[in-house]
Parts: sequence; structure tokens; C-alpha cells
Amino acid sequence: MRKLFYAALAALMITPAFGQETSKFAATPQMGWNSWNKFGVNINEDLIKATADKMVELGLVDAGYIYLNLDDGWHGERDEQGFIQVDPEKFPSGMKALADYVHSKGMKLGIYSDAGWKTCAGCAGSYGHEFQDAFTYAQWGVDYLKYDWCYTENINPKGAYKLMSEALKATGRQIWFSMCEWGTAKPWEWAADIAQSWRTTGDIWPYFDTIPAEFENQWHGEPVMKLVDLNEPLRAYAGPGHWNDPDMLEVGNGSLTLAENRAHFTLWCMMAAPLLMGNDLTTMSEEILQILCNKDVIAIDQDPLGVQGLRLKSEGGIEYWFKPLEGGDWAVCFLNRGAEDKVVLIDWESLKFTDELSGKTFDPAGCKAQNLWDKKVRARKTKGTQKVYIPSHDVLLYRVGK
Ligand code: GLA
Repeated sequence: MRKLFYAALAALMITPAFGQETSKFAATPQMGWNSWNKFGVNINEDLIKATADKMVELGLVDAGYIYLNLDDGWHGERDEQGFIQVDPEKFPSGMKALADYVHSKGMKLGIYSDAGWKTCAGCAGSYGHEFQDAFTYAQWGVDYLKYDWCYTENINPKGAYKLMSEALKATGRQIWFSMCEWGTAKPWEWAADIAQSWRTTGDIWPYFDTIPAEFENQWHGEPVMKLVDLNEPLRAYAGPGHWNDPDMLEVGNGSLTLAENRAHFTLWCMMAAPLLMGNDLTTMSEEILQILCNKDVIAIDQDPLGVQGLRLKSEGGIEYWFKPLEGGDWAVCFLNRGAEDKVVLIDWESLKFTDELSGKTFDPAGCKAQNLWDKKVRARKTKGTQKVYIPSHDVLLYRVGK
């Protein structure tokens, strides 16, 4: 292993860095699946292979979900020379074999580490082993690294993330660098050349707007809408090659209602957020699959213009969201954030506005609106007023264009 390590370091001198390629490489937000939200540290190679099989079988790979990401808990010990090993009981065939399997299914493999001494779950962190770890991941055929921020007392975030970013580039392998520093040091202000995405928030929990009182006295993550409120104002920092990440999806995982699942997914797409599923794909219902696989909605997230949408206003408990798209269309979403179902009068022409960030003007004159969650409803002209019904915690999502 050590010989290979130095050979790779020598190759570094002649390998062009991937930096210049970044915007092509991460031209749209990442899509895939991650083990954490559902399985925590209880992961193993059978689960990952079964998930890979399901992703192909259910058409998720065709829909764009290509990353299969292991989160915390895959680690074994470091060997005598400091090289990280996989947990031999959970991954008896080794990580290279797993990467080969995942690649053979047309997907890419993601892995997880931490800038500190330990990962959040107490496994070996990468501190002091950055180049060694990056090299090991590249040798295994890893395509994605989520890099966490636990056990980092006295470590400078900018330095730590830049170091691992350099280490990954030095491998010569294209590896998506997903920073997971929870937005503590405002990475959106300094990490555009360091990473392809950065977390803007703490951890997501599968609740819509509030965490139930029973969890008050214990550590808990944040509800979906809290993350939305933190991530929305950062839209100017996102774009092709560098995306805001308000954490992974809780769609189909836990206590969200069907409407809440739809709203959560829609808002992630409106915010050009990573679409990383976090549910058990082997037991998911048909209704959840229909949400995750709606290609018209995914196209809003993956739109090549790469502009994160905005919440234009909030009126009478309804939030008005807009996202300019390549070619002049707009995605328009009405979210009922409140607890009561609502009848809303949409006065299309009054919604005309110019988005200063993108310089694009939303002008519904002469346009049609296609309902993306119910394609059976014919596209209607965006003229005059339209009376719509929006259940509590649900959305209406339109693609508006000529
Ligand atoms: C942190 C991260 C989570 C997850 C866990 C794993 O809390 O923010 O997304 O990776 O660590 O321990």
C-alpha cells in the first residue's frame, strides 16, 4: 500500500487538477441515496448492494439518482501505517469490491469521513491522515466524499476543508467533495473553489415545521421548514459547480404526511438542493416512489441554468416561490405552510417581477401553467385570476412558459 501511495504522490506532479473542470463536473446538484437518515451506523455490504439493485429496478438511476453514499459507520481500524480499513464484519468483501458492484450498476459510490479526530459516531476521523485517506478512497474507486465536522476543537475550518480538497484533487480521480460543516463558518463565503456542495444547516429530522415537545430535552435535528428558512437567503452563493445543501431528504422516512413529503421534495427542487434520498428503498410505498421519480419536478432541481429559487412573498399563510429556468420558463410554487386547508385566488399578472440575482423577469402574459404534480389537469392560461385549493402543508407546483 505504501509504495502505491508514493507512486500516486509522484503522479500528482503530472496530473492536471480537476479544479478547472468543476463547473462541468457538478453542473447540477447531486442526486442519489445516503444511508444515514434511515439506517444510521447499521450498514453493511448486503444493504448497500440491495439498495443498488432497487435503485436500478425502480428506475431511480434512470431518473438521475446516481450516487450511492455510505455515511458514518463503515470504518474499521487504521493499520500500522495509518491506512484506514473497512469494518471487516460489515464489509467482508472490502470497499473496492463494493465500488465495483455499484459501478457495474451504472452508479457511483460515495463515502464519509470527518475533518476531526473522530467521526460524529466515534469512528476514525481523517485528521492527520488527509492525503492517505484521499488516496485510499481513490484506490477503492470512490466517487464522492461527505466530510463532517465533529471532534474539531481548535481546527480551522477553511484550512481543514482546503486540505482535504487538495488531497482529493491530488488523487487525479474526480471525487465530489460534499462539505458537512453545518454552515457554522459560513462556507458559502469561501468554499466555491474547495467543494462542490456545502451544508448550510444542521441535521434534518422528519418533521415539517416543529419538533414535537417530547424531544425537547434531548439532542434533535431541525424540521424541514426551519432548514428552508436557513437555506433560502443563501441563494446568491449557489450555482453550477457549488451548491447549497440544506441536508438530505426525509421523503418516505418517518412521520411526514404524503402532502408534507411532496412539499419537502418540491422545496428542495425549487432551491436547487441535492436530492439524496434517505429512506428504505426496499419497503417504500408506490406513492413515495411517484414523488421521488417525478421527472418534471426533478427537472426543476436539475435545470441547467442553475439558479436557486426564491421565496418572493408570504401572504395569508401561503408562500410564493419562483425559480427561473433555462430557455425562459419558470417554476412557480405555492406552499400552504399553515395548519388549515386553503382556497387561494391567484392573480397571475400581479405576480410579474424581476429577479435581481438572475436578471430574469417573470411575466405571465401569454403563458400557460402546467401543474407538475397532476399532469391530468390541462395546462391553463396564466391570465386573470385562478381559484385554487391547497391542503395544509401541501404545494401546487407549475411550470410556466409560452
Ligand atoms: C452529522 C451529519 C449527519 C450524519 C452524522 C453521522 O450529524 O450532519 O448528516 O452524517 O453526522 O454521524
